Amino acid sequence: MNHILLIGFMGSGKSTMAYRLSYRIKCSFIDTDKFIEKKAGCSIKSMFATRGEDYFREQETACLEALLSEKTSKILALGGGTPMRAENRILMRKLGTSIYLKASPETIYQRLKHDKVRPLLQGPNPKQAIEELLAIRDAIYEEAADYVISIDDKEMYEVLQEITEVALEIDKKEVSKKHKKEGR
Ligand code: S3P
Repeated sequence: MNHILLIGFMGSGKSTMAYRLSYRIKCSFIDTDKFIEKKAGCSIKSMFATRGEDYFREQETACLEALLSEKTSKILALGGGTPMRAENRILMRKLGTSIYLKASPETIYQRLKHDKVRPLLQGPNPKQAIEELLAIRDAIYEEAADYVISIDDKEMYEVLQEITEVALEIDKKEVSKKHKKEGR
């Protein structure tokens, strides 16, 4: 299956872009955070509080495994921490093509400074938490990504346009792969 996976830090716009892209290219989408919340019957925030982060990370891996059996190509918006586990990156390769929505710590901070739901940003110094996490994660997102789109100083419609172009390119490649297989 060749799903389109949107990856990147919290607040980089993965869910919003998945929703908009889905409308634009007529392809359904799944937000993995929502998938996990629905299955567990509780919010991620309360899952972190009652069962801990490790439990949540297990649910992320289980979610990717479950998505392997999806029969039609979809747009998948992944949680910001999902690519951190090596086993998840292997699953991501199997699931399809990843697009990294890359943002600077400042952009993320401006977007999330009033956030009340993301457990990793509820400490006394969210700015520092963003800088520290992003410093570790950026290289991993880059490594996991097939395409990188920088979102700093761009309007939402510009980012959507770039993602759409990449999605159409991915689709073209898939069609020509299929034709090659069929000997056309
Ligand atoms: C997390 C990102 C969140 C959510 C959880 C942990 C992370 O998703 O999965 O709070 O570790 O970066 P978003 O990236 O959609 O905010």
